[in-house]
Amino acid sequence: MPDCKNVWNGEDEIVFGVLVRGLYLDISGCPWVVVPDPGKGGVPRQALTVDIASVLVDGAPDEEAAAKLLREAFDAWEFDKAPAGLDAIMQSDRMVAAPACVAIKNREALAGLYWVGRDLESARLRLEKQDDSLLEISPAEPARVVNAAERADVVRGRIALVTGGAQGIGEEIVRSLAASGALVFIADLNLEGASKLADSVNASENRLAALPAAVNVSDEGSVAALFRAIALSAGGLDLCISNAGVLKAGSVLEQPLKDFQFTTDVNYTGFFLAAKYAGLLMRCQFRTAPRWKTDIIQINSKSGLEGSKKNGAYAGGKFGGIGLVESFALELVEYNIKVNAICPGNFLDGPLWSDPRKGLFVQYLEAGKVPGAKTVEDVRAFYEAKVPMRRGCTGADLSRAIYYIVEQEYETGQAVPVTGGQTMLH
Ligand SMILES: NC(=O)c1ccc[n+]([C@@H]2O[C@H](COP(=O)([O-])OP(=O)(O)OC[C@H]3O[C@@H](n4cnc5c(N)ncnc54)[C@H](O)[C@@H]3O)[C@@H](O)[C@H]2O)c1
Repeated sequence: MPDCKNVWNGEDEIVFGVLVRGLYLDISGCPWVVVPDPGKGGVPRQALTVDIASVLVDGAPDEEAAAKLLREAFDAWEFDKAPAGLDAIMQSDRMVAAPACVAIKNREALAGLYWVGRDLESARLRLEKQDDSLLEISPAEPARVVNAAERADVVRGRIALVTGGAQGIGEEIVRSLAASGALVFIADLNLEGASKLADSVNASENRLAALPAAVNVSDEGSVAALFRAIALSAGGLDLCISNAGVLKAGSVLEQPLKDFQFTTDVNYTGFFLAAKYAGLLMRCQFRTAPRWKTDIIQINSKSGLEGSKKNGAYAGGKFGGIGLVESFALELVEYNIKVNAICPGNFLDGPLWSDPRKGLFVQYLEAGKVPGAKTVEDVRAFYEAKVPMRRGCTGADLSRAIYYIVEQEYETGQAVPVTGGQTMLH
């Protein structure tokens, strides 16, 4: 099992790609995608070339020193022959021509070659055509969201990850982020489901908006490999949604330890692992983009705010998740990474509840859990009646909470309930 050193140290390709993306985020205040080039076509004429030999420690790049070196190289680049370098450009609002390709050299040897684009398709096209014509960048302030109806715009162009994204709440979030212009990695134990969803999203959005990936969030090696793959496909990450979760209900007097551990491994440890590797990637990006804010969001539950009878493994892991959110928020704020949780009420339309064979409605009907209920509809009505707003939570309710958290620059370590008034904060 790798530790974080093995994952990042010696992985120059990842570190430099992420640092390059950070520079473009910093100059423009808006998202970019960076893809590595195997370098078979040589270094394009108009590429910015940076020699990193001086920042290698035992052969691996020192992140902070490498970030400084890259920034100096950018500063020296003749952006439209601007005399005063990057800072002067960033304070102005004029368009500048920037390199579309950055070459990293270790003395004579090519150590990395990266293509930059506003989205994955354009970056890949440049690589394919070796098109090194300069990019037009406006260093103006990023588009500001001025009212709630435009809130979804905050994720346009951002690189997002949704774990457990193949179905249910995750699917709703994937579709919403993609429709709002994000590039979304759909990571799931169920790779087939993630791939089908990616195809469906790409067809409906008519662009490359979603990419599938396999992951088991409770396995460190698998999570590390997922974040490597994201860095190598797109050059960084702006929004990590830790959504994968499982529920095995059971009495504290009867639940087998293995069921308790399974639930805890996915819901609690899985969030730790996602936050750890997202944090490493986002911290690296922060080195060259110190003003760019990134988000880690845990999809928690109303069961993270109040106890849940005969469902302790789930509620305990979700309560613990809020402890992790608060603690990680305190630590990662230094790197401009916000960490928050969303606590949904019951998502009654999703497969967890509505699956006609093994959904909770059928299970509760068969177990006689709802007194007097004769049909699945009776069980549903019982749960709807518990909500002051008289309905289950929807994907749109959750997306609104995500956009709020991303847009809100002045909050971290919070748990945002989305429960129709069923669970209130104390
Ligand atoms: N459904 C609800 O009513 C409800 C309410 C509040 C909170 N939540 C939370 O929302 C999240 C999603 O729930 P849902 O109802 O959509 O669940 P779901 O069972 O419909 O979907 C969960 C997805 O996670 C994937 N997954 C499971 N274990 C995984 C693992 N180890 N690694 C990677 N992927 C894995 C599954 O393959 C599936 O695609 C969970 O964290 C859950 O606790 C759900």
